[in-house]
Amino acid sequence: MNNLSFIKQYLKNPKTIGAIMPSSKYLAHKMIEDIDFNHSECIIEYGSGTGVFTEGLVKNKSEDTKLLLFEYNEDFCKLLKDKFGNEKNVFIINDSCENIDTYLLKYNINNVDYIISGLPFASLPQKISEKILTKTRKVLKNDGNFITFQYTLLKKDFIKRYFKYIDLKREFKNIPPAYVFNCVNCK
Ligand SMILES: C[S@@+](CC[C@H](N)C(=O)[O-])C[C@H]1O[C@@H](n2cnc3c(N)ncnc32)[C@H](O)[C@@H]1O
Repeated sequence: MNNLSFIKQYLKNPKTIGAIMPSSKYLAHKMIEDIDFNHSECIIEYGSGTGVFTEGLVKNKSEDTKLLLFEYNEDFCKLLKDKFGNEKNVFIINDSCENIDTYLLKYNINNVDYIISGLPFASLPQKISEKILTKTRKVLKNDGNFITFQYTLLKKDFIKRYFKYIDLKREFKNIPPAYVFNCVNCK
């Protein structure tokens, strides 16, 4: 899928897509560079889109690590299935990550180490964001990490309410430049 197709998806669903083009490889690197791939039982990605972050997750994860990809958009989901459908222990889910608990049961997952998110919290309805973050905190292990990017700091205080602390980085070589929030969970 090229950038024009991504823009088309954005024009159809601006609030849930939340960006006019996929993230850059630079941002993808910053999103995953702190993951301890050798000691992860389960990694989850919210809003995989065309799979820019997924590529690094699939490439670096151990074979036994379960990777669940949540993507709400049907066209993006088909693309993810074409790209990653044959990978071992990668499960591609065409549903909202609000329903994460159902899939943890389905795939027999008790421990979630990392949740990587491409969700556009700035444009998602507040109630949906609240539901997602409440469940995220519940399913992530103690000291597990929720890693998300945002183009501004407007939602920082809102996201901070759910976690012990946030470690902040910035990637200028993304269009537009983005902040990476590494949020540490506390149970
Ligand atoms: C800003 S795009 C990010 C795509 C990709 N991660 C990237 O960085 O290029 C946000 C993605 O989140 C998806 N999305 C939005 N709300 C969602 C939800 N509740 N559950 C799963 N995916 C969702 C959208 O369909 C879209 O693909």
